[in-house]
Amino acid sequence: MKSRETIVGGNWKMNTTLAGAPVLAEGVARAVPGGVSVAVFPPFPFLLPVRDALARAGAAGRVALGAQDAYFEPKGAFTGEVSLDMLRECGVTLVLAGHSERRHVLGESDELVGRKASAILAAGMRCVLCIGETLAERESGRTQGVNERQLRAGLRGVGPSNAERLVIAYEPVWAIGTGKAATPTDAREAHGHIRSVLGELLGGTAAERTPIMYGGSVTAANAASLMAQPDVDGALVGGASLKVDEFSAICAAAAG
Ligand code: PGA
Repeated sequence: MKSRETIVGGNWKMNTTLAGAPVLAEGVARAVPGGVSVAVFPPFPFLLPVRDALARAGAAGRVALGAQDAYFEPKGAFTGEVSLDMLRECGVTLVLAGHSERRHVLGESDELVGRKASAILAAGMRCVLCIGETLAERESGRTQGVNERQLRAGLRGVGPSNAERLVIAYEPVWAIGTGKAATPTDAREAHGHIRSVLGELLGGTAAERTPIMYGGSVTAANAASLMAQPDVDGALVGGASLKVDEFSAICAAAAG
């Protein structure tokens, strides 16, 4: 049993429908075991129906409502963006910052991700800061350097005082959606290094307390071996989070 919180998130990405999202949420609410923190991250238009579905299933508070992104400005002329206050009004308590698809498909910079992470924590919400290297970066021996750079930029506005709401997700880009998860050894090495950088940036106490999720092709079959690694404190799950059985089995593996 780990002393840190274990947390599993279902990142639904740009999937589900208005009818299907609440059904999936209710299924998750009924199936997930205790002993692990669970969150779902539906698309923006489905946050309210999912919030209501979680409440109907008696899971409000037990399954947290997350958002896949947010803008750092509080309001104004930012067409297409969504503020943290808007998300809070919808019942959101945690927000992803810097997911690999935001960085590599939508072109978000390290600096923008850092501004988002600070704003999320300053708003009193939990921030899941996502980091991870591409295949080319791994093959050229730059995995640790990239993770360190993304952590330093992502946590520029974060100190020991607001770090208690921080969660890190290590998601190697080459493992996301490919069916090719990191090996437990890859994950152990990366997570150990991430925790040592957190120690430098936030101090030892905060670094020890901060959960580090692994993400990238997590399934019911590989979850237990990944989660058995000392610094792997849960999972951020994409494809497998769209199936109740698969997702709840991953949560059960995380709960140990
Ligand atoms: P995947 O996605 O589980 O489908 O690989 C993980 C993620 O992007 O968070």
